Amino acid sequence: MKIGIIAALDCEMTEFCHDFSAVESGYFGIYEGKCGGHDVYICLAGVGKVNAAANTQRLIDLFGVDYVINSGVAGCTCKHLGVCDIVISDKLTYHDFTPIDVLDKYAPYSSVFKADDKLISLAKEACTKIEDENFFFDTGMVVTGDQFVDDSRVVARLRDDYNAYCTEMEGAAVAHVCVLNKVPFVVIRAMSDNADEQADMSFEEMASIAAKRASFVSTFIILNL
Ligand code: ADE
Repeated sequence: MKIGIIAALDCEMTEFCHDFSAVESGYFGIYEGKCGGHDVYICLAGVGKVNAAANTQRLIDLFGVDYVINSGVAGCTCKHLGVCDIVISDKLTYHDFTPIDVLDKYAPYSSVFKADDKLISLAKEACTKIEDENFFFDTGMVVTGDQFVDDSRVVARLRDDYNAYCTEMEGAAVAHVCVLNKVPFVVIRAMSDNADEQADMSFEEMASIAAKRASFVSTFIILNL
């Protein structure tokens, strides 16, 4: 099978390139490698919704990927998880699209994008393999916007309005494009910060470590597909 991985940042894609012996594909920002007998296309997409959407469509059009995984870090917005824990996307929406029901009323007639059950279930299994008594994971709503959230008042709003488990800058755009193309997907996010006033500092310190944990879960999914 063919698997597409969308990563926004270098630190979110580096483990895949190393572990899958990836080489340049000839297409800008896309590397190809092998994992568990599958062809894997790893895309360094850049930050934000447009980069995520455009590059997800490129993976689908250029390589005909059967599955898409968006792997990386996020700001934690729920009370029961913390830095280095994992959120597996159950569904995703945009937190910066107002009014959001425009997406329900007009194409694509949905403002919430549901992840694939098989990929969710493999991600959960992967998380049970992480041997760290301080590690927790959960499956829930991931909210996306073109905004690095570093304000606890915004965190409270994201929790109240969307029951958001974490916030990041690409997931819902990846999900949106996958739904339009009927390609199953999941978003795996390890928490680099709490999206609060200390988010910047925490991100600097923890992003690489957290990204590695998200890569572990994503790789487990691919190996078991
Ligand atoms: N990715 C990692 N942390 C984030 C945050 N606090 N806001 C948005 N995207 C993030």
